[in-house]
Amino acid sequence: MGKEFTILAGTANPPLAAAIARELGLPVGACAIDRFPDGEVMVQLREPVRRKEVILVQPTSPPVNDHLVELLAMADACRRAAAASITAIVPYFGYGRADKRHGRREPITGRVVADLLQVVGISHVVTVDLHTPQIEGFFHIPVDSLTAVPILCKELEARMSPDLVIVSTDVGRVQMAGRYAQCLGAPVIILHKLRGSGGQTEVTDIVGDVSCRSCLIVDDIISTGGTLAASIRALLRAGARPDMMVAATHGLLLPGAREKLDHPAVRDVFVTDTVRVANQDWPGLHVISIAPLIARALERFLADGSLEDPYEETRRDARQGETKHGATILS
Ligand code: R5P
Repeated sequence: MGKEFTILAGTANPPLAAAIARELGLPVGACAIDRFPDGEVMVQLREPVRRKEVILVQPTSPPVNDHLVELLAMADACRRAAAASITAIVPYFGYGRADKRHGRREPITGRVVADLLQVVGISHVVTVDLHTPQIEGFFHIPVDSLTAVPILCKELEARMSPDLVIVSTDVGRVQMAGRYAQCLGAPVIILHKLRGSGGQTEVTDIVGDVSCRSCLIVDDIISTGGTLAASIRALLRAGARPDMMVAATHGLLLPGAREKLDHPAVRDVFVTDTVRVANQDWPGLHVISIAPLIARALERFLADGSLEDPYEETRRDARQGETKHGATILS
C-alpha cells in the first residue's frame, strides 16, 4: 500500500499552505484552530490522520509564541491520532536569531524551540533561509533548509542595472550576499553594523566602494526596518546612487517598517511569502511565492528521494566561470 499524505495549515499562513497543496495536487486537510476565552490554543483535527504522513505548514512568525504553540498543539494532536510521520514546514523559524548567548544568564531560545518541536513528535523540519545554518545542529531529526535566493534573483535580474553592487547588511549576511552575487554576477559590499542599547542600528563601516553605484541591499529578515534604514543612510552618505533595491526572504514588516523603507532612494522591495504579508497596498513591495520551492522539495521527500543541494546550480555556474559582469564571489 502506498503512502497517504495530509497537509494541515496553522493560522500563520493559510494562503501559503493552500499554494503548496495546489502545487502538489493535494487538498488542505480539515483542522479547526481557535482560542479558549483565556487565550489558550484549541486544536481539533476534523479528519483521521491514522498511519498518514502529515505535513504541517506553519511559519512561527509574529505573534511568534502563539504560532509556535499552535504548531506544537497540532503536532501533538497528530501524534496522538497515530500519524505515521509529521513533517513541519516552518518557512520562517522564529527565535532563529536567539542562536547563541550574548552574555551570561541568557537563554538560547532557538535551541529551546528545536527541543519543543522534537518533543511533540515532529520527525522532519523543512525551513527557508535559517538565520544561521548551525541552528540545524540544535535538532537530532532531519532539517532541510532551503534558500529563496535563486527565486528572488529571477525577479531581480530583469531590474538590475549594470553598475549594481550587492550589499550585505552585516558580516552575518556575507554568505547570503555571496549567493546573490553568484546568481546576479555583481560584487559584494559589506556593512559593519552596531546595535545600540535602545535597539537603534548604526552602520559604522563600509567595506568596498559604492560611489555612483546602484545597490541591492540583502538581508534574511525585515523586522522593524531599522537595519535597512541605517544601511540606506550610510550608503547614500558614501555616495551610492539613490537607486536602490532591497531583497529579504522573510518580510515580517512590523508596524513602522514600511515608513522606514518607503524612501525616495528605494525603488523596489522584494520579500517572499514565508510570512503572510499584510501590506498589499504598497506599490514598491513585491511578494514572491516560495510555494513551488517547498512543493518541489516535498515531492522529492515524498518520493523518498534526496533533496537537491539548493546551491549546487549556482556553484556549478561559478565553477564554469559563467557568472556575469565579472563578479566577485565570496563564499
Ligand atoms: C540581524 O542579524 C538580521 O539579519 C536582520 O538584519 C535583522 O533581524 C533585521 O531586523 P530589523 O528590521 O528590526 O532591523
